[in-house]
Amino acid sequence: MTSGKKTPVQSFRRVERSWDEFWAEFWRIRLVGSDDAVAWKNQQVVDFCCDVLKLKRGMTLLDLGCGAGFQAHLFAERGIKVHGIDITPKLIAHASTVAKKRKLGATFSVGDMRTFEVEKPFDRVAILGMSFGFGTDEENRATLKNVFRATKAGGKVLITGQHPYSASTHAGPEWMETSEGFLIHRGEFDPMTSRLGGPWELVCPDGTIITEGDNPESEGIRCYTVPEMQSLLIEAGFKNPLFYGSWFLPPSEVQWFSMEMISVADKPKR
Ligand SMILES: C[S@@+](CC[C@H](N)C(=O)[O-])C[C@H]1O[C@@H](n2cnc3c(N)ncnc32)[C@H](O)[C@@H]1O
Repeated sequence: MTSGKKTPVQSFRRVERSWDEFWAEFWRIRLVGSDDAVAWKNQQVVDFCCDVLKLKRGMTLLDLGCGAGFQAHLFAERGIKVHGIDITPKLIAHASTVAKKRKLGATFSVGDMRTFEVEKPFDRVAILGMSFGFGTDEENRATLKNVFRATKAGGKVLITGQHPYSASTHAGPEWMETSEGFLIHRGEFDPMTSRLGGPWELVCPDGTIITEGDNPESEGIRCYTVPEMQSLLIEAGFKNPLFYGSWFLPPSEVQWFSMEMISVADKPKR
């Protein structure tokens, strides 16, 4: 006869998994990809981008750091000619497979935002999902210069990163129950460097603790303030930077308590 009680874990063992397995496969594709709340937010993000960037059917969009292509697929469904670039081959393979299966026009390629080049500039460029800031300050500056080159004259960019006002909400331990175990993040915010980081671990019911290997985000994310982003965008050549604080429409200016910091700027016509 069983009591219905779970047997307590007798011992734990740590196993390091690669970025592809732990982060790309488990987190981005399986976990985030099946989360209805994320799917809902992605629709909201795409609505916001279409509104603020005046993004119309037939326009070209570069989705930089596109991950598994969740938003890129939604843009393609709206008739936008989207190309996604991401540093993680596993995510790009997933994004391409889904696009082909669903006969979406979206295309994808592996690339590094710090060094990428494009053959033809895009009407619009977006960095979504807080994907700006993983590099050093110098690399992030180079990224914005690459983004400037990849944007058509008269075009627009929209960039999201983590910002320092909301960083405290991710500092300290946070956890989430998943079908494969408890995902734990020991978030650390370093005020001296304004970087948010900290390790992620998946604690499985059998006592296995899966840790992440070296990855493009290991150094954490540089949390830029509004004035810093303003300077970086202007230095890269952009004009009229505006800063929004949420994905809700109508757009509202960023506040100290905003969870998002969405930077939007124009590339001058000449
Ligand atoms: C937080 S995820 C966001 C993914 C996607 N934009 C979204 O919102 O679902 C950050 C993404 O940035 C990518 N990434 C990190 N460093 C990069 C780099 N230097 N160049 C291109 N992509 C990078 C990662 O592979 C990851 O897919």
